[in-house]
Amino acid sequence: RVTPVPSAPADLVEPRLNPNAEVVLTKRYLRKGPDGLPREDYRQMFWRVAATIAAEESKYSSSPYSVAELAQEFYSLMTSWRFLPNSPTLMNAGTELGQLAACFVLPVDDSIDGIFDAVKHAAMIHKSGGGTGFSFSRLRHEGARVGSTGGVASGPISFMKIFNTATEQIKQGGTRRGANMGILRVDHPDIVRFIESKARQGELNNFNISVALTEGFMQAVEKDEEYDLVAPHSGKVKGRLRAREVFNLLVQKAWESGDPGIVFLDRVNRDNPTPDQGEIESTNPCGEQPLLPYEACNLGSINLALLAKPEARDGVDWEELARVVHLSVRFLDNVIDASNYPLPQIGEKVRTNRKIGLGVMGFADLLFQLRVPYDSQEALNLAEKIMKFIQTESKSASAQLAEERGPFPAYETSVYGKRNEGPYRNATTTTIAPTGTLSIIAGCSSGIEPLFALAFSRNVMDGERLMEANPYFEEALKAAQAHSKTLMEDVAKKGSVAHMEHVPEDIRRVFVTAHDVAPQWHLKMQAAFQKYTDNAVSKTVNLPHEATQQDIWNIYWMAYEMGCKGVTVYRDGCRADQVLCTGETP
Ligand code: CDP
Repeated sequence: RVTPVPSAPADLVEPRLNPNAEVVLTKRYLRKGPDGLPREDYRQMFWRVAATIAAEESKYSSSPYSVAELAQEFYSLMTSWRFLPNSPTLMNAGTELGQLAACFVLPVDDSIDGIFDAVKHAAMIHKSGGGTGFSFSRLRHEGARVGSTGGVASGPISFMKIFNTATEQIKQGGTRRGANMGILRVDHPDIVRFIESKARQGELNNFNISVALTEGFMQAVEKDEEYDLVAPHSGKVKGRLRAREVFNLLVQKAWESGDPGIVFLDRVNRDNPTPDQGEIESTNPCGEQPLLPYEACNLGSINLALLAKPEARDGVDWEELARVVHLSVRFLDNVIDASNYPLPQIGEKVRTNRKIGLGVMGFADLLFQLRVPYDSQEALNLAEKIMKFIQTESKSASAQLAEERGPFPAYETSVYGKRNEGPYRNATTTTIAPTGTLSIIAGCSSGIEPLFALAFSRNVMDGERLMEANPYFEEALKAAQAHSKTLMEDVAKKGSVAHMEHVPEDIRRVFVTAHDVAPQWHLKMQAAFQKYTDNAVSKTVNLPHEATQQDIWNIYWMAYEMGCKGVTVYRDGCRADQVLCTGETP
């Protein structure tokens, strides 16, 4: 690269890592030599990232920072665990690969060339640690005529298996396994096969799948009407289905296996900030980032667990949050230019819209510290206040960058340009990611999810078992003089204290886990964050094993009515092998 990277100052502080972070970073993030041994320590790793991203600053004479100063700021931002960029940035910044984004969407055209181009491009992206989303809606349906051969087409689902197999063979540069999102419009003639496709165990194990529901379809469900299935290549109506039957099937399959999820495509496109640049047809693998074909996006997450300030308004250190948001937006905007892209088309699209996705993690830990139950109106109010604040501050940071560096190239024709709002440096600024690995590194609860268990024990070497408990939970027990070894062992077995009558009532009310929280509250929380998020929100609505199909129907309908962009449900114990997104334990 042309931009010179500053070398580490001698007095750079050594980062303090939790034991799990050490394992994850050593195994997957530290750069390795040809012998497979790390060539850098934690300090060098975070400096590599900080310095590479800060070096971009030298291109802008109007920057208020010197590169050296900014590198120090970025270093302490990350190693204080207040903010972390998505995994590919941590892994690849300053390396030869240099691909820094986690999210990509690739078009799949209705031709053999188009399909296999996409397979190849996906392989290149997986190698660099990125995830890919595809809409298969343009592929002609199974049995349709193929002009060149006079034969018949095999349809989207059989081609998805090729993507799945290719993914299987590439172990993302030895760092993480590939992840895909597969989307099909509800009016595609093969929709029923698609909805049933994940039920055949293993065939699409590297895919999350989602059905793209349209406003018209939802109205047909409501009125119990039929709707048209349309051949994508000819526009001809190929059949009609009763909308409620399809919706029922969706619900049934989601009940059985968690897949497919649903995405409200019209709604996603209504919020498309750059409609002149194309139509959004898919999201990234975990669903939080809708993108145009060939677009990529880099994400970053602020750790709310460290921003609790009980004496401040609403218990949050707002001043510090504002500082962190501004610095993080600058970081993420620099990542766009510091990144290499696997294809020229991708680099071009990314630099035209300059989307970034700043979000949060550690929300459940924040609530614990403030003694606010996750499933309470107070928690929803706080969620809205925090996200509104981050949204506003990130837009102001992006406007500041636009002043220093110019707005994103498609600004004039974007919805912001037309509304005379901004100008901004970035077409989007906010996304709530799952933070599966980031939350392990930062040692906090993941994304906006409640904790899965308050304590658990894991096997370590020599058959020894090591107990791990949420620190805020242990602190609260100690303060209430309710802490004991027996109790902790019991909690490690059950995960939750909801049914332990000997635990003080206020502790049981505050320290709730994913399964103690009713599905409706999961969804309300998702909607609260979505209200002030440009892109989408990664959230799983957990259901107990005994949940019925009607329960899932209700959740889907509620998501539609509450303005969510999509929804993913997971019924406890319905699947032996989880695809991803529950966090990668070392
Ligand atoms: O915590 P980390 O940055 O590793 O990732 P995440 O927040 O759990 O996931 C964010 C995005 O990274 C996902 O939506 C995918 O686009 C991508 N990802 C992937 O490609 N492969 C994985 N194994 C995990 C995540």
